[in-house]
Amino acid sequence: MELLQAIRTRRAIRRFKKEPVPPELIEKLLEAARWAPSSVNSQPWEFIVVTDPETKKRMSRAFVLGPFLNEAPLAIVVVVDRLRTTCPVQDGTTAAYAIWLAAHDLGLGACWINPNIPGGIRKILGIPFTKKLITILAIGYPDEAPVHARRKLQDFVYFEKHGNKQGPLKFEE
Ligand SMILES: Cc1cc2nc3c(=O)[nH]c(=O)nc-3n(C[C@H](O)[C@H](O)[C@H](O)COP(=O)(O)O)c2cc1C
Repeated sequence: MELLQAIRTRRAIRRFKKEPVPPELIEKLLEAARWAPSSVNSQPWEFIVVTDPETKKRMSRAFVLGPFLNEAPLAIVVVVDRLRTTCPVQDGTTAAYAIWLAAHDLGLGACWINPNIPGGIRKILGIPFTKKLITILAIGYPDEAPVHARRKLQDFVYFEKHGNKQGPLKFEE
């Protein structure tokens, strides 16, 4: 898939087919994350690959924002080693987005789940407190094709100075 097309058509997928994600595709997702940018190339991320249904069930009960994790055949949990970076959220997010986009390119779908009660997930997965929990990505073959809108460029792009909308680009209405 062409990159700009992939960026544009990737969606948050919350309904999945039961079909498991083959190991070679899981490896491709992790490989995409490995090449994400990070502050001073610190590469502070770590990933926990979860496919065990019982573990996913326990995880999905531990937060209110991602009950669909239970139905996803795969979860990739993104954590960042706080001792390796001063930008844990940014570094973890670039890797998570790489996985999300790669999933789309491979015909999979994914959704970011915010670990709103991180304590529960830490306990279930044994994540030490030196690691920052960034996200849980629920991943699988999509069983929905949601449409999500975006604000228009002219609503949030300025030229030369914040607030100035006069510039060389004429955005389409
Ligand atoms: C930082 C972040 C946190 C998110 N947290 C959740 C979440 O906890 N649960 C959920 O269902 N979706 C979550 N999402 C997915 C967004 O709701 C989704 O990306 C957004 O509605 C835009 O839809 P699209 O990705 O299909 O374009 C999150 C996305 C981001 C980037």
